[in-house]
Amino acid sequence: MDSYYKLLKNNAEWASGKVARDPEYFKRLSSHQHPEIMWIGCSDSRVPADRITGTEPGEIFVHRNISNMVLSTDLNLLSVLQFAVEILNVKHIIVCGHHNCGGIKAAMQDESYGLMDQWIWNIKDVYRIHRAEIEAQETEDGRRRLLTELNVKEQVLNLAKTSIIQNAWSSGKYPHLHGWVYDVGDGVIHTVFEMPAGTEIDSIYKLNRKH
Ligand code: CO
Repeated sequence: MDSYYKLLKNNAEWASGKVARDPEYFKRLSSHQHPEIMWIGCSDSRVPADRITGTEPGEIFVHRNISNMVLSTDLNLLSVLQFAVEILNVKHIIVCGHHNCGGIKAAMQDESYGLMDQWIWNIKDVYRIHRAEIEAQETEDGRRRLLTELNVKEQVLNLAKTSIIQNAWSSGKYPHLHGWVYDVGDGVIHTVFEMPAGTEIDSIYKLNRKH
């Protein structure tokens, strides 16, 4: 059976199974969504946000891209973020990186992949900022794992630089920001960085609305 066809077959079975167990399931879900969590993860097929967190439809609002980046010029990410924060009022935003990430590997070498080199350079920036700490690691694997963690931390910090998060923090007590790393090797998520709502940020990034 073609791999794509299997998806449709699975879907039909899944939908009828849900209704068999709970006839009102889709009727309830279709009226509105009220997720408390926004997830920013990697596009990697091995890191499905809902499967690895045991969450159901309606529980997490998801954005994924190569190496879970939060970039100031990414209209897609920023639109998802604004909707999540200002309309859905999510309480938590999780940036979840993962070990064995292709984007992290690509950032640590000089091979060109074409257009995506421009995306990867943002990961190289994280490497440059933390070069001493990363290169103090003895093994290639250690350097890669540390870059994965530091990249997650930098992306959480990037969230806090946005006017979207700063406005939310100045007018309320959410959202809290969390940096996680998922280990593809054993399926376990590790917490690496936390920024509770209202955390003081580097003064150069502080925004003050004067109009
Ligand atoms: Co990845």
